[in-house]
Amino acid sequence: MKNKFYITTPIYYVNAEPHLGHAYSTVISDVQNRFHKLRGEETFFLTGTDEHGDKIVQAAEKQGTDPKTYADRISSLFRESWSLLDTEPDRFIRTTAPEHIATVQRILQDVYDRGDIVFKEYEGLYCFGCERFYMERELKDGKCPDHGTVPVRLKEKNYFFLMSRYQDWLIDHIKRHPLFITPERYRNEVLSFLRDPLDDLCISRPVSRLTWGVPLPFDDKFVTYVWFDALINYLTGLGYPDDPNFSKFWPVAEHVIAKDILKPHGIYWPTMLSAIGLEPYRRLHVHGYWQIHDQKMSKSLGNVIRPGGLVKSFGVDATRYCLIQEMVFGLDARFSENAFLLRINADLANDLGNLLSRTLAMVLKYAEGEVPASQGQDGVEKELREAVLRLVPEWEKTMESFAMHRAMQAVWEVINLANKVIDTSAPWILAKNPAKAGRLRNVLYTLLESLRIFSILIYPVMPSTARKMQEALGLDPQKDLDLSAARRWGVLIPGTRTSRIPSLFPRLETGKAKDNREVKRGPVAEDRVKQIAFEDFKQIDLRVATITAAERVPKADRLIKLNVSCPEERTIVAGIAEYFSPEDLVDRQVVVVANLKPVKIRGIRSEGMLLVAKDDSGLHLTTTATPAESGAKVR
Ligand code: ME8
Repeated sequence: MKNKFYITTPIYYVNAEPHLGHAYSTVISDVQNRFHKLRGEETFFLTGTDEHGDKIVQAAEKQGTDPKTYADRISSLFRESWSLLDTEPDRFIRTTAPEHIATVQRILQDVYDRGDIVFKEYEGLYCFGCERFYMERELKDGKCPDHGTVPVRLKEKNYFFLMSRYQDWLIDHIKRHPLFITPERYRNEVLSFLRDPLDDLCISRPVSRLTWGVPLPFDDKFVTYVWFDALINYLTGLGYPDDPNFSKFWPVAEHVIAKDILKPHGIYWPTMLSAIGLEPYRRLHVHGYWQIHDQKMSKSLGNVIRPGGLVKSFGVDATRYCLIQEMVFGLDARFSENAFLLRINADLANDLGNLLSRTLAMVLKYAEGEVPASQGQDGVEKELREAVLRLVPEWEKTMESFAMHRAMQAVWEVINLANKVIDTSAPWILAKNPAKAGRLRNVLYTLLESLRIFSILIYPVMPSTARKMQEALGLDPQKDLDLSAARRWGVLIPGTRTSRIPSLFPRLETGKAKDNREVKRGPVAEDRVKQIAFEDFKQIDLRVATITAAERVPKADRLIKLNVSCPEERTIVAGIAEYFSPEDLVDRQVVVVANLKPVKIRGIRSEGMLLVAKDDSGLHLTTTATPAESGAKVR
């Protein structure tokens, strides 16, 4: 019987559009799903959207629409992004789907009937952003650690899930299953959280405050707390309880999340499952944050990179490859467009792309475009064959342990070895000597077989590149993209026609910065240059001003107080003392922002701002090319 594998992503809130962080979770889940398929396993991959709760109501209101219409629109954007990134979920679930609502209600009734849900009054600190109560000790300087807002004190009667009943069981389960939550730091985090007594979980919200949720089956004056509703998607997705998929895949469930939602997945969910009478999931894989300018990329901060922009700039396989390589699973990673670009040019265009095109060109030139018959390997090509065969089990082990970046690095080491084999065996010299014809055939065959195996190992990350490579090698991706074929040497049949194909990854254009760093031209980062409308620009009053007096501000190294005429007299405090002495400034014409709100700097009222340009040589005042009247408008 085939082994089974069930993988899920978080279901994403529809209060904002998909970004790189969501894309990462979905792509790695897809990579894992394809990896298990490649091994011949029966797999199920679930993703979807989380559509109930305050956040969604507020987001819909902002757009002047109702929650359902709004959720429909954003949910389809997620779905579209996942197909742009060539991910292939078996099911896309939405928490507003009737079958999900029915499953949530069925489970609530079940847990209620077992006596694990009680009604009581509670007073606590509530964060509307997170839609949950916080304990004092969880707050950072009295504020929500995620939203930076002060939680509101709320007192109300609600339904509570008696989570604390399952605390000892959960501690024991985590201790007995070292791989239940990985990487280890997150397992330790959950265990440390469990050192204190667990509070019971408030699982309802009164309809007087929120109606956009699943009604409690036993009290229609309340709806279900979004997390209790959302986590159950992992069961609905399999058709719990009657669908055969449920019994087939639940025992092998693996969840992928980022560390922001560790607590609901590491604590609420296993205790809920235990209360339902189900086995907990098999594994929880927790990754870090994609950051931009040292901050978590997030919809609330608005510093996001859109998956569509990346695919447009770099192509889908290259984007997937960079996502895997640029983040060590479990740690935070800084997004850099330039790092993506350099990696694509180095690893994909140079190492892999050139290896394929050089090999195919030589096969065409020296073997009439057909896979040559080989008599075995010698020297460097023998070394390559051995390295390739050692690589396959190592790759499989690292992929299985979710160290996908290490698995790819291991492949690239051997790709580089193959490139070296070309350089050291120098087939173009072998071709000149008829006595070396056998060696030439051996070298070419070894390169082709290595490429065949590489095509299988890169498939989970770069599916369409893998297919292109296989077709160029005269293979049929439908049957030859199979891990058991990667474990065997000698699959390519001599006489098979190969074909040359356009380069797999054309080099991307780069520019050189002053310090010789390579930089990309044309940013994909949406936050890099914020565009403003002409209407907004028109509100800035820029004027030519003549400096009539200038003096240093006492005890402030950087500040100079200027009197300017534009044409009325005003004072401006400017941070330019490191670059100019006051005497140099008098009588100079400059451009100022004249309608800036006045501020007090060191007790001096500053009524505007000087425009300057900065480069490596220092600061430059801006002025008009020919003298203008003081007060002339700059447009
Ligand atoms: O929390 N870096 O939804 P959500 C890496 N609906 N991953 C990131 C990220 C970043 N900067 N930002 C977001 C929810 N993610 C709930 C989940 S599950 C039953 C309910 C990814 O839209 C990452 O997977 O806030 C994170 O856990 C998830 O998006 C949070 O998505």
